[in-house]
Amino acid sequence: MTSFALCPPISVLGCSSSISRVSFPTRLNSHFHKSYCKFQVKCSYAEPNLKDDYKSAAIDVVADIKTERVVVLGGNGFVGSAICKAAVSKGIEVISLNRSGRPTYPDSWVDQVTWISGDVFYANWDEVLVGATAVVSTLGGLGSEEQMLRINGEANVAAVNAAKEFGIPKFILISVHDYNLPSFLLSSGYFTGKRKAESEVLSKYPNSGVVLRPGFIYGKRRVDGFEIPLDLVGQPLERILRATENFTKAFSSLPASDLLLAPPVNVDDVALAVINAVTDDDFFGIFTIEQIKEAAQKVKV
Ligand SMILES: NC(=O)c1ccc[n+]([C@@H]2O[C@H](COP(=O)([O-])OP(=O)(O)OC[C@H]3O[C@@H](n4cnc5c(N)ncnc54)[C@H](OP(=O)(O)O)[C@@H]3O)[C@@H](O)[C@H]2O)c1
Repeated sequence: MTSFALCPPISVLGCSSSISRVSFPTRLNSHFHKSYCKFQVKCSYAEPNLKDDYKSAAIDVVADIKTERVVVLGGNGFVGSAICKAAVSKGIEVISLNRSGRPTYPDSWVDQVTWISGDVFYANWDEVLVGATAVVSTLGGLGSEEQMLRINGEANVAAVNAAKEFGIPKFILISVHDYNLPSFLLSSGYFTGKRKAESEVLSKYPNSGVVLRPGFIYGKRRVDGFEIPLDLVGQPLERILRATENFTKAFSSLPASDLLLAPPVNVDDVALAVINAVTDDDFFGIFTIEQIKEAAQKVKV
């Protein structure tokens, strides 16, 4: 099969007009379900001062280029939009599924995402998942006990099962830190739903599933056309907690101490940790706040 659609433009330095063969067969690796561009360039060249009939030995160049196609569930939310933006900036193809579809603000990355309007409980997965290399779920939120169980738990369980059915090789869940809370508080719909979703990810994707457990996430949250600058609180708090961590460590085993002591994390760092998860096949399992920051750092470097 020959396809140019998935392949980035390739320039071959050092080849004169005597390129004899360039082929771009694309293969979908059924084991890893990754899209690869495999191309082969055979080129012969002649030095300017050599006779025309001189031909050097042909050079064969074979390379595999992985192309990622990521589905973000909730791509227009606070965390989801940071993930979409970061993925687009890394040249990753992005599809978002959320009920209200495309956001109305005019940022340039918005045009580079495919926006599908739909509810995760009634999604036409054929339209959303085919060809995806990873699904990232930002589905979750607060509300009544029933609502929290449904959006944090059932919605994610449904999404994990759909992704598994479609053979998507990786599932990344934005979950939450447990704040060191006593177990009676962890039995609320929010945490129960989150933990149900986590165990579904880890059981269906034991060797590639990713669960990120951030605490408070700061950044600029858009609500009804306004930006709420959560970073005005989150950023200084993160710095203070880092500076005092040697002192506060002594209190970290106290129940619920993390409500005060868990460091906030920048929404862009959560997004970069997701990019790291998408691109690094050795990154799977449960990740704490510190590990999220480390993963983000790897992508920044
Ligand atoms: N924000 C924080 O400080 C924080 C901290 C720790 C963990 N988390 C977790 O991080 C995740 C993202 O949080 P967030 O603050 O970004 O939430 P958010 O802004 O409310 O975003 C939620 C997204 O999910 C979509 N959505 C909701 N119900 C849906 C459904 N039935 N079908 C399809 N899409 C649906 C929403 O879009 P539509 O309304 O258009 O459908 C929106 O895009 C959540 O799981 C949250 O628990 C957040």
